[in-house]
Amino acid sequence: MSQHPSHLTTAVPRRAVVTGAAGFIGSHLAHALVQAGTVVVGVDRRDPATDPTAAANLAVVRGLPGYMHVTADLLSCAIEPLLIDANAVFHLAGIPGVRPSWGPKFSEYVASNVLATHRVMDAVARMGAPRLVVASSSSVYGSTDGGASVETDRPQPASPYAVTKLAEEQLCLAHSAQAHCPTSVVALRYFTVYGPRQRPDMFTHRALTAALTGQPLRLYGDGHQRRDFTYIDDAVAATIAAATIPTASGVINVGGGSSASLLEVINIANSLAGREVQVHQENPRSGDVLTTRANPGRAYEVLGWQPQVDLHNGMRAQMQALTAESAAFGRAA
Ligand code: NAD
Ligand code: UGA
Repeated sequence: MSQHPSHLTTAVPRRAVVTGAAGFIGSHLAHALVQAGTVVVGVDRRDPATDPTAAANLAVVRGLPGYMHVTADLLSCAIEPLLIDANAVFHLAGIPGVRPSWGPKFSEYVASNVLATHRVMDAVARMGAPRLVVASSSSVYGSTDGGASVETDRPQPASPYAVTKLAEEQLCLAHSAQAHCPTSVVALRYFTVYGPRQRPDMFTHRALTAALTGQPLRLYGDGHQRRDFTYIDDAVAATIAAATIPTASGVINVGGGSSASLLEVINIANSLAGREVQVHQENPRSGDVLTTRANPGRAYEVLGWQPQVDLHNGMRAQMQALTAESAAFGRAA
């Protein structure tokens, strides 16, 4: 997609650390920062030498002179050396995904989202980095009456994952509120981010893949649940603004681009692919909320940010990327 985040034309950090750089949002963020002139240290425990998803995500930045990649687990590695001279730290590393968090993987959620975050924030404060931007989640709001969620609403997390994301953002804010802490914190509550390289467990990826391949799509519930889908370039623009605007702090919603039901997403996938997705309906999954909807007012006031990409155009870009990937895979096979 040719659209560029508007904030890339404004100041960017000179040197930044991106945790979770081998992931979906982290790899886009690292790329956008390097393109804008920031020297980026990307950190992730997935090793691109052995993990094909990490390698595919990092392909856009590997080899660029402004990018250095470190394979390390934030639960155990020495974090301080990674932070030398960093003007901003973007903490995106974590275990995402609502539904698997009820199972035995919950300890991994706690480890990466809470314990590793405590280590990161402690090191960031000790090294004196002026700003940390942390990836929080719309899931902290839990079930709503369908109206737009404002940052001052009382969080009511409805899944173990959401509990860890609330703990993660509040942990960073608590560190930052200490009298001696030199780091200001912005916690971004991202609303269902989609676009090229989206995680394969997420709905938009699955709907587009089903439309492209003809394989069936599993729909959890009746498809009337709604999400405030946020295009990846918009999420990246908000994230960079959160690091560069001196007065920004606290919790900020990043969403409000495109409210749509899952049935509407399926219809767009059908129209982009020119074929009907076969839907297999299953029971709703525990912890899934019926509606997420962002009030984007604070993002606009504090960051000057507004989403630019609507769902149809964003899904078209995601489908083009999936088509290009499968063509490349076909050639390699
Ligand atoms: P992702 O899984 O693609 O990326 C996360 C990365 O973090 C992975 O590459 C993983 O290896 C890395 N990681 C996890 N634990 C680590 C550890 N202990 N040490 C080092 N690296 C570690 O996920 P994503 O969709 O890009 O999400 C990024 C962040 O944004 C997550 O914190 C997620 O909770 C949050 N978030 C995502 C969305 C969304 O719609 N994708 C919405 C709200 C919040
Ligand atoms: C997404 C991310 O996965 C979370 O990491 C993130 O924290 C969250 O957004 C957020 O906004 O904070 P979710 O909204 O559940 O979580 O997004 P999807 O995983 O894309 O699921 C959206 C809906 O599609 C859910 O109702 C889910 O049950 C449904 N779904 C998903 C299906 O019906 N079938 C599938 O195969 C996958």
